Amino acid sequence: MIRTVGGTPQASADLPTGEAKTAQVRAMFDAIAPRYDLVNRIITLGLDRRWRSRTFDALGLPGGSTVLDLACGTGDFADLVVRRGCRVVGSDLSAGMLSARHHPFPAVQADAAALPLATGSLDGVVCGYALRNFTDLAASLAEAARVLRPGGRLAVLEVATPENGVMRRGFDVWFGRCVPAIGGLLSDGAAYRYLPRSTAYLPDKDDLRRMLVEAGFATVGRQLLHGGLSQVITATRRGMPGGGAE
Ligand SMILES: C[S@@+](CC[C@H](N)C(=O)[O-])C[C@H]1O[C@@H](n2cnc3c(N)ncnc32)[C@H](O)[C@@H]1O
Repeated sequence: MIRTVGGTPQASADLPTGEAKTAQVRAMFDAIAPRYDLVNRIITLGLDRRWRSRTFDALGLPGGSTVLDLACGTGDFADLVVRRGCRVVGSDLSAGMLSARHHPFPAVQADAAALPLATGSLDGVVCGYALRNFTDLAASLAEAARVLRPGGRLAVLEVATPENGVMRRGFDVWFGRCVPAIGGLLSDGAAYRYLPRSTAYLPDKDDLRRMLVEAGFATVGRQLLHGGLSQVITATRRGMPGGGAE
């Protein structure tokens, strides 16, 4: 397990941190990019589409808004953003994932901790299943806050662990055993063995809330999906236009 101090991942014997993590994560996603969508649909039993829709709804933005799909991968969120009448830009660490985009929406290859986007230029940021992959989570959240306009919205979709005992046991078997087996059959076994282990990087809900506030967000919210199989975290960029109260 990754030990966290105030939400910041600390060194661990078997999970990488720092530059080693960035290099390993980039190489892993480059390798699994061609079959990422297929495996993703199977291991979420197709529920990820519904969860993305709920996440986009949680942004609460009108059509015509400009939204960043942070760590966009092959662009499942980006496609949804466009279908909902918004403009999208994507960013991702992995050239392989960007090359496997379904549609050629505008996107940049960049670490989430250093986005080549103008300050205050976006109305919304969505981010799907990527937080635990970020090497510097605090800096990545600060970048998301920087590129949002005051009052702009963030909605993050992440894995969660169900609290109900029966659900939890089922989840442990599916995520801990079935997912690595399916990933090994269809794609890259090492990558899909890493997937359940990578949840150790994810701060708990209180640490994540504190990190979001420190990054420049207010009104942090969290909803659990399908009995806690996934979670949506929402937040609003502090500093309302015209200096009004938040
Ligand atoms: C599990 S995939 C999710 C992709 C997509 N968001 C989705 O919902 O299907 C995680 C993505 O995060 C990207 N990623 C990992 N670390 C990153 C970083 N430090 N900066 C930007 N993207 C990163 C990976 O390349 C990968 O595309």
